[in-house]
Amino acid sequence: MFLKKLKLNDFRNYINFEQTFDHLKTIIIGQNAQGKSNILEAINVLATSQSERAEKDSELVFWDKDYALIFSDIQTKNSELKIALQINSTGRRKLKINDVPKKAPQADLLGNFFAVMFSCDDLYLVKGSPSARRRWLDSVLFQLDTRYHRSIQDYQKSTTQKNALLKKAQETRMPRKELNEQLGIWNEQVISLGTEIIFTRLRFIKEIAPVANEFLNNISKNTEDFGLIYKSSICEDEHNYVHLHEMDKTKIKELFHKSITESFDEELARGQSVIGPHRDDLIFLINKKEAKSFASQGQQRSIVLAVKLAELKLFEKEKDEIPVLLLDDVFAELDENRQDFLLHNLPENIQTFLTTTHISDIQKEFLNGAQVLEVKNGEIIENIGLGCKI
Ligand SMILES: Nc1ncnc2c1ncn2[C@@H]1O[C@H](COP(=O)(O)OP(=O)(O)O)[C@@H](O)[C@H]1O
Ligand SMILES: [Mg+2]
Repeated sequence: MFLKKLKLNDFRNYINFEQTFDHLKTIIIGQNAQGKSNILEAINVLATSQSERAEKDSELVFWDKDYALIFSDIQTKNSELKIALQINSTGRRKLKINDVPKKAPQADLLGNFFAVMFSCDDLYLVKGSPSARRRWLDSVLFQLDTRYHRSIQDYQKSTTQKNALLKKAQETRMPRKELNEQLGIWNEQVISLGTEIIFTRLRFIKEIAPVANEFLNNISKNTEDFGLIYKSSICEDEHNYVHLHEMDKTKIKELFHKSITESFDEELARGQSVIGPHRDDLIFLINKKEAKSFASQGQQRSIVLAVKLAELKLFEKEKDEIPVLLLDDVFAELDENRQDFLLHNLPENIQTFLTTTHISDIQKEFLNGAQVLEVKNGEIIENIGLGCKI
């Protein structure tokens, strides 16, 4: 996969940005807060339909403007793609692929263009909040499995309705029988959609864990093992997390049902849904111990590096395409060994975009043959080709 051209209008701090890419590596250099990450963010939105940084679409639109535009020319293995995405500050979107307007701008965007984002924020994946880990899971699964996005959207709608009912029941002291009847309808949807989501996540973990383990073994010269467990709110006790990985959909559904029934009083008291994939988390293991509590900073970096490389491998296997790699400000955080490991384990011919404030943070070998763009205040001020073109 190769991004040949990117054009941005009123996206973040870019009023007018247009750039062609014809090198395998593009280095975006600039001082802080100039717009380096914004370029990678735009590319990532094309792949995942979401931004890892923005809560709402309006944040992506230049202050006080009505909409942002992202245009791209992409070369895939077998075809050329032109994706044009309009993001309105109201939250509505419009999408054209090869000049054909699409009815479902969110869902129709996914599955066309693939990217793996590795930003300095990912270095907190192990120790950060559960929501950051869920966001990561979703950003990968949105691309790998387009049905997953639909399940997440429908699941969110059902939980919103369920929460509204629980709030109403609390405020109006709704009789139990009436509440039970109405809640049953929403719970049925929550359980059915939530089971699909949990099952897809479990399958993904089963695929990525052994690949990440191999990378971690290699980085650590066989001194560290990797593990990944899905920590679900549908399991009442932690000993069951591991068993979830062996369950089929029917068993998961049964467990979900049992758990949601038992949590009736808690959900009513809190006025919100407390059981389901929106509350779930991941546990990273290093040498069979919880990495959150036991991994050193260096080990956390190795884990994230192994996970990102495994992500790339999974795209190659499942989509038969090499995704574009977005490295946002990670070099200052990776020592020479880990930079070396990354460099030597990337798929051949992978298109990479990387940002940095200091070019000296990046190993010379990485810079070979790269296109260098310098950004200042939402504009490219220099466009220096360092080496040979591809
Ligand atoms: N919606 C927006 N409209 C205009 N400018 C924005 C918007 N969102 C962020 N910015 C600006 O973008 C800059 C940050 O860009 P970013 O790409 O994160 O910087 P960095 O170069 O440090 O990676 C800041 O100057 C910020 O004010
Ligand atoms: Mg940045």
